Order: sequence, then C-alpha cells, then structure tokens
Amino acid sequence: MNTNWTEHNIAELFDAYDDWEENTFGYQPLIADLTSSHGKEISVLDYGCGSGKVARRLRDDGFNYIADVDISPIMIGKAISAGGNHLHFEKIHGSNLPFSDNSFEAAISCFLFINIFERCELLRITTEVMRVLKPGGSYYILDTHPRTTGVDYPTYRNGEHGISYQYGDNRPVYLTIPGRQQPLEIVDKQWDLSTYRNTFAAAGLTLTTERSLPFDNSQLPAHMNEFRTLQDTKPYILLRATK
Ligand SMILES: C[S@@+](CC[C@H](N)C(=O)[O-])C[C@H]1O[C@@H](n2cnc3c(N)ncnc32)[C@H](O)[C@@H]1O
Repeated sequence: MNTNWTEHNIAELFDAYDDWEENTFGYQPLIADLTSSHGKEISVLDYGCGSGKVARRLRDDGFNYIADVDISPIMIGKAISAGGNHLHFEKIHGSNLPFSDNSFEAAISCFLFINIFERCELLRITTEVMRVLKPGGSYYILDTHPRTTGVDYPTYRNGEHGISYQYGDNRPVYLTIPGRQQPLEIVDKQWDLSTYRNTFAAAGLTLTTERSLPFDNSQLPAHMNEFRTLQDTKPYILLRATK
C-alpha cells in the first residue's frame, strides 16, 4: 500500500525529518541546473510540494514566483504555517491544475514519482505539467535512484539490505526522525529509468538531462565521518525534460 500523505502522523513526522542529504546532493544540484538553464526571473511550479521545504529554498535563493501544489491538505497546511511569504500554495482538486496553458518557465517534482503507484497517473501529471509549461520550459524530476537500494545513508535507507527490487515493486523507506527512536516508514514504488524516459516521451516532452547525483565527501560535516565510505554512491537521479 502506498503512503497516505493525508494522514496527520505521516505529515507531522515527514515535516520533522531533517532533509540535509536530499538538500545537499539533490535539491542544490537541481537548483543549480535550473538557475543556469533559466535564470531566477522565472515562474516555477513545484508539483508535489509537501510541506514546502524546497519552495522556501527557491524563494530564499531569489526565484521570482513559485506556485506550489500538492494533493494533501495537511501537507499544504504545514507549508503555509511554516512561512508562505511570497509563495503560492494550492491543494490540487481533480485532475487539472488551476493555471492557464503556458504559465511557467519551469516545473519541478521532488520525490513525487516514487510516490505515484500507477503509470497512468505519472503520465496524467506529466501531461498536465506539459500544458502549463511555456514553450522551451523545463520539467525537473528528482527522485531516489532506483538502482541504489539497501544503502544506509546518514538519514535514511531506501529498501531492505540485500534485496534487489524489480520494476513495480513496493519498496519500504526508513527515515530517521530527530529525537525519535523508531524511523518513519513509508512505501515507495520501484520505477526504473525507462519509466521516466517513456513518461516524458508520451507526454510530448524531450529529455534533455539525465544525471545520477553522487554522494560527495567534500560536503560532509566532521560529525558524519563514518559515512565517508559512501563516496561516489548515487543516492538520487535528476532528469530534465523540455517542452
Ligand atoms: C515525499 S513527499 C515530497 C515533498 C516535497 N517535494 C519534498 O521534496 O520535500 C511527496 C509528496 O507528494 C505528494 N503527492 C503524492 N501524490 C500526489 C499527487 N497525485 N499529486 C500531487 N501531490 C502528490 C504527497 O502529498 C507528498 O506531499
């Protein structure tokens, strides 16, 4: 069964999760690519924004306009109460986004595809993103790398040790929550890289970037020295497709 993001306890614990690793090795490379491709004077759609952690980073980094949508009213509520100045949060109702065609220079979805359990839903979301992107606009997907499972990263483990996950499997993910002994367990879907490529192609987007993002010891604070053996493992994938 997939993670119920409308459940209060899940929203609460996910919001308390320290996303240092996602930020260092995932969000920051995404933001750097977005900046070099489109600059910051742009409108960005954050689809599957959760409690707004990425949106606040984009805003604080100087991006012009950020619209944030999510299916979960609890996650949107958390995003608003965490400080929504200059951000525009909306709960998604039905299958259409409340934006006109050709509204955004860029859209991002971080850790959304692995939370969508049906291929047809991936395509529906991507087609809707395609509609609201301006011609030449980019859709960025950041997810955990489907081939990097069972690795003990500083704050999470994606899948059980020693198990090789196959396309379509449900995969447990364990997030360490500060001050709590038990990890938060959520369930992701095991897609493969062709799932992303085929979904973009079917929605009419052209894949322009596909990167495996590495764990990099030069970013590790001293108290995390025990994780230096993870150097060059690839915790995340970043894909960019253009309209
Ligand atoms: C793992 S969280 C990631 C949140 C945020 N992008 C981040 O990186 O912190 C996944 C989010 O996707 C949202 N979500 C799941 N299915 C969705 C859908 N069909 N449409 C929009 N959002 C969805 C959930 O409510 C949840 O907030």
